[in-house]
Amino acid sequence: MQLLDGKSCSEQIRQEIAQQVTKIKAAGQRAPHLAAVLVGTDGASENYVAFKVKDCAEVGFESTLVRMDESTTEQQLLDKIAELNADASIDGFIVQLPLPAHIDENKVILAIDPDKDVDGFCPENVGKLSLGLPTFISATPNGIMELFRRYSIETEGKNCVVLGRSNIVGTPMAVLMSRNTNPGNATVTIAHSRTKNLAELCRSADILIVAIGKTEFVTADMVKQGAVVIDVGQTRVPDSSKKSGFRNVGDVDFDNVKDKCSYMTYVTGGVGPMTRASLLQNTLKAHQRR
Ligand code: GUN
Repeated sequence: MQLLDGKSCSEQIRQEIAQQVTKIKAAGQRAPHLAAVLVGTDGASENYVAFKVKDCAEVGFESTLVRMDESTTEQQLLDKIAELNADASIDGFIVQLPLPAHIDENKVILAIDPDKDVDGFCPENVGKLSLGLPTFISATPNGIMELFRRYSIETEGKNCVVLGRSNIVGTPMAVLMSRNTNPGNATVTIAHSRTKNLAELCRSADILIVAIGKTEFVTADMVKQGAVVIDVGQTRVPDSSKKSGFRNVGDVDFDNVKDKCSYMTYVTGGVGPMTRASLLQNTLKAHQRR
């Protein structure tokens, strides 16, 4: 089994982006600028956003972190989005999800200017993705496609099972893998909580992409010999032996599955860093378009 090293791949991408930024600045232009809105203090979201800010600094982007209280009203958040839409110094922004329960996520996503929607979550960008038009592609699926590309993993004609149908990962992932592109051109099935004979279906997969948010859900008996297995899951599980008090556990039972795979990602250093690099790619694209 060869481990797909998202950490080193993402470092390569960051270096490529940093070189572009150097050129942009040398041409007398301002650097790309990403803003991130964080509502509340969810631990995992805090972490993700902190990484996004750090990544920006590393490649020479400007970044702005907008912190809003847990008690922020939906209208206050919509007002902030209108402000960011109108701010000519910001190329793109994200609103970190999930949001507190009293805020309608869909309303928030609909309020974001599609030209600044570097998450690729709003209807116009999701529609463009489905039509194969240039757009901001949701960061996690894009990061996974980039892994396939950089490791020259053959996807054409392969059976690909995507476990999970979220708007952020499963659904765009399935669209990308089914398109007439390379990587792509796979025969894709989306599986979810109501799927019958799930283990059998997973065993038919040459490529299994797992994004269901259930720790170690995919076990060895669900994996075909020689399969490519991508683990998107990252659940925090309390662990007193760690300084942070938790460890991240994936959706795949790594230790027991690894010997069956040709290629595989691990919960850390796999999909996560690629997601982060994709957001930087989208922000650079937003800057180039303006
Ligand atoms: N929450 C988990 N993943 C993401 C992401 O890619 N973007 C945003 N905005 N929120 C998330």
